[in-house]
Amino acid sequence: VTGWVWLDGRLVDGGAPHLNVSDRGFQLGDGIFETARARRGVVIELAEHLARLRESAAALALTLPVTDAAIGQGIVELVRAVGLDSTGADGAEPGDAAVRITVSRGPLEKRGLAPPGFETVEATIVIQAWPYVPPDPAVLGRGIRAIPSAVRRDPGSPLAGVKSTSRADYVYARLEAVRAGADDALFLTTDGRISESTTANVWTVVGGVARTPPRGDAILAGTTRTWLMAHAAALGLPAVEATIQPSDLLAADEAFLSSSVAGIVPLTGYDGRPIGGGRPGPWAAAVRRAREDWIDSASLAAPAGAPRGSARDAGVR
Ligand SMILES: Cc1ncc(COP(=O)(O)O)c(C=O)c1O
Repeated sequence: VTGWVWLDGRLVDGGAPHLNVSDRGFQLGDGIFETARARRGVVIELAEHLARLRESAAALALTLPVTDAAIGQGIVELVRAVGLDSTGADGAEPGDAAVRITVSRGPLEKRGLAPPGFETVEATIVIQAWPYVPPDPAVLGRGIRAIPSAVRRDPGSPLAGVKSTSRADYVYARLEAVRAGADDALFLTTDGRISESTTANVWTVVGGVARTPPRGDAILAGTTRTWLMAHAAALGLPAVEATIQPSDLLAADEAFLSSSVAGIVPLTGYDGRPIGGGRPGPWAAAVRRAREDWIDSASLAAPAGAPRGSARDAGVR
């Protein structure tokens, strides 16, 4: 984090101590988060990220202590404070940041999962910003090779679609990938369907149609996934929700992953076997380019000055 973080409404020194050791996010992973891009100081799909943050909060009966407008304003202030908001108007590179909003239930000194006072503790909210680092060109060039994680996802779990800070399953899956010499791991549902990767939604392309697992397959409903459902057809690639079995993934013409920060990244291997001949396919590259172009135009179309929020607010769709 470059210099500053936004904590409960104030910009504070990123290197200073901030959190109470009793904070439930630290003690229990009792919190939620969102990660987004901010280009030219404009948060991409802010409204969508805030809507999902509020859905995650509702699932855990967590009360956000601030308004959406205050969070949007906080991101704008932070991105400006860390110098990542250049509009590029003066010939400089446009500012590009990865932004994370984390909300924890807050500090509670009493032990236990739901002790007295648990419902009324004031949540802690933190915003961090980093210079945006695109995926390694070498990885884009060869594609992600993934393994199946031993961790299964239960479609019946009420937490399946919640973006919570309890990330042990995801860290474990990434460790499995590292140990196997792979780039990432994919979660399967308890009954063996492809769910998602540790940080992204999964897509196949078969016969010119893009498919991604439905919400019932224990996925996080990604904002980039939603964007693709709405925009892929205009690129000549109709997109549908459909269950994907591991055998479908291996037999696909090509596959890719989608997420806010990394964007569209080809997926070229699964469980030691190639997908689409083991090389990135043409659709992954085309959709990646279209998404990056859309992010750029969304950042240009947003009105200058606060709240400079969602591209949707600016009429970009
Ligand atoms: C587990 C998981 N699935 C999917 C996604 C993609 O969501 P989005 O497109 O909103 O970034 C993410 C993003 O962080 C994720 O962590």
